[in-house]
Amino acid sequence: MYPLRRNRRLRTSENIRSLVRETILSPKDFLVPLFVVEGKGIKEEIASMPNYYRYSLDLLAGEVKDLASLGLKSVLLFVKVSEDRKDNTGKEALNPEGLMQRAIRTVKDAVPDMLVMTDVALDPYSKFGHDGIVSEGSIVNDDTNAVLAEMALSHAKAGADFVAPSDMMDGRIFEIRSLLEDEGFYDTGIMSYSAKYASAFYGPFRDALDSAPVNIQNVPKDKQTYQMDPANRKEAIKETLMDIQEGADIVMVKPGLCYLDIVRDIRDAVDVPVAVYQVSGEYAMVKAAAQKGWLDHDAVMLEQLTAIKRAGAHVIASYFAKDVVKLTL
Ligand code: PBG
Repeated sequence: MYPLRRNRRLRTSENIRSLVRETILSPKDFLVPLFVVEGKGIKEEIASMPNYYRYSLDLLAGEVKDLASLGLKSVLLFVKVSEDRKDNTGKEALNPEGLMQRAIRTVKDAVPDMLVMTDVALDPYSKFGHDGIVSEGSIVNDDTNAVLAEMALSHAKAGADFVAPSDMMDGRIFEIRSLLEDEGFYDTGIMSYSAKYASAFYGPFRDALDSAPVNIQNVPKDKQTYQMDPANRKEAIKETLMDIQEGADIVMVKPGLCYLDIVRDIRDAVDVPVAVYQVSGEYAMVKAAAQKGWLDHDAVMLEQLTAIKRAGAHVIASYFAKDVVKLTL
């Protein structure tokens, strides 16, 4: 009791504060999302994501070496597919010489021990911008799963260490795991976007890949029939436990900051590693406010990432990974 207990004693200097600090960020926490485009010599900034770029394969190699030199050991690959290769079946996603498949090999050639994870979903390949096949105004679950499993297999064949299904179809983890096992890819892991919410924070990402759902007759222009309702909490546990039963090695909550209650629920409910995706809109908000001089960029970035880890994240996918590692770690 006061004055015997004075809590401020543990805050008197940076040395004592850092000694008793409960949450410490490390480069090992981070998974770095990378956007890849066709072409040569391309490093183009994404308009709504300041200081974040799309790379062509030749420049991707250098970027990956740069990440490795900073101690960043894991990447999550996304591809921007040209319009003429988009359809409603995901055919291009299975092309062994497709952009994703070449990107995987490029990263492994540049830095052989870089952990490569790949996005598995149809939206970058869909002329409707949806994560699944569209038929008569709805997103068809089981036919989509069949393509997703083939897509995951194709990534595994190209050398991906983990596949990361981000689509939220029912049963896709089971379909993917089964096909990987049948084909002998026992060590290819699955990081499942288990509790992925139908969030407005994905806007800048859809700019980056030109993958926003379209607004034409009979096609829903949002993803609310497969991504989760932001109002729901129990459902996140249900989704996540099912993905683990179906064979997910790592589960994910997405987005980050608005969903830290969910992160803690999941961390307490499961015995597999939990990833959190701090998404494009979260990044954009900090950049925009900092550009206006309204927030201290580095301090806000550190506070947000620390909060994500404190809430229970073992793995943090973040566009700030390089910034934060350069700053402190
Ligand atoms: C697509 C996918 C999305 C993101 C990752 N994978 C967008 C979406 O679901 O519409 C969002 C990532 C971000 O906003 O940073 N399957």
